[in-house]
Amino acid sequence: MQCCVETRELQHSFAGNQPVIDQVSLQVPYHSIYAFLGPNGAGKTTTLRLLTGLLPRQGGEINLFGKALDKNRASLLRQTGTMIESPSIYGHLSAADNLQVWYSYFRCRDYRI
Ligand SMILES: Nc1ncnc2c1ncn2[C@@H]1O[C@H](COP(=O)(O)OP(=O)(O)OP(=O)(O)O)[C@@H](O)[C@H]1O
Ligand SMILES: [Mg+2]
Repeated sequence: MQCCVETRELQHSFAGNQPVIDQVSLQVPYHSIYAFLGPNGAGKTTTLRLLTGLLPRQGGEINLFGKALDKNRASLLRQTGTMIESPSIYGHLSAADNLQVWYSYFRCRDYRI
């Protein structure tokens, strides 16, 4: 199965405490809608932070589009859109100016704004 997101035995702990992510292996197929459910504190947000490189990987593997996140982070993130918990927008900018900021990150064509 071709996966756009794949983790193998992902592991993470904060400040050397017990792992909050323990041996998590995910396979998200291309062209799918995937729901990642769990009770409060289960580790959903932590997993998403790991998948986007916002937290450094401690153990296990993370592949996006078949490539290792560690070695290809900038190019892989340019191919993804992510919103974790709340949107990162600048409240003092217009919608178009906010999109202009994103446009510079993603290097897409500005006619799309
Ligand atoms: N920065 C942090 N430092 C220490 N512990 C943390 C930190 N972030 C999260 N945790 C702990 O890690 C565990 C997983 O938290 P996480 O936020 O990933 O859960 P969640 O599944 O997203 O929960 P929720 O449904 O409430 O959003 C929790 O026990 C939480 O208290
Ligand atoms: Mg959360």
